[in-house]
Amino acid sequence: MKLEQLRIGADNFSYLVISEPDKTAALVDPSIEATQALQRIHDEHLTLHYIIITHYHGDHTAALPSVKKQHPAAKVVASEADGKHLRVHPDLIVKDGTVLQVGAIPITIISTPGHTPGGICLLVNDEALITGDTLFIGDCGRTDLSDGNLKEMFDSLQKKIMPLPDSLIVYPGHDYGDRPFDTLGHQKQVNKTLLAKTLEAFAAIP
Ligand SMILES: [Fe+2]
Repeated sequence: MKLEQLRIGADNFSYLVISEPDKTAALVDPSIEATQALQRIHDEHLTLHYIIITHYHGDHTAALPSVKKQHPAAKVVASEADGKHLRVHPDLIVKDGTVLQVGAIPITIISTPGHTPGGICLLVNDEALITGDTLFIGDCGRTDLSDGNLKEMFDSLQKKIMPLPDSLIVYPGHDYGDRPFDTLGHQKQVNKTLLAKTLEAFAAIP
């Protein structure tokens, strides 16, 4: 499998998950503008099967209508809670444990509310973890926005992310850290938001 990290604007990331033998792909978070992603799809002659939304915020979804317009057969995938905020109606509602298939590549949905009520992470081929605005390199997503929830974020990090294998590569929704991606094992050792083992300690992180 091939995973391309595309930097959009100042610090957003979009991702292309590509199954090379059959040239099918999923675009994760079209972001503010999808010129790069659409160009890659065109250049590599890819068939876009899915447009997967990690959460509904505009900096991750503004280009969704234009991508869907150019690839109408691609299914827009989101959680129920976040999907209702999108400008394009989702074709497929996913929940914790849903598995999507891009060619030979399984993508397992992990429900991780906290930044938004319907935020999801994607476990790709048991190799990569696309985390949206749930987990950043060295930090986690904000919980003080309108429908964020600190307790839910703490539970998502400790109960959903921490049990996952150290070998996974974390691919976040923004380039906020000292590197664009990292192993989950290293993040478990250094990320203050994963090291906070009680809700009180998590809430006290400045
Ligand atoms: Fe966000």
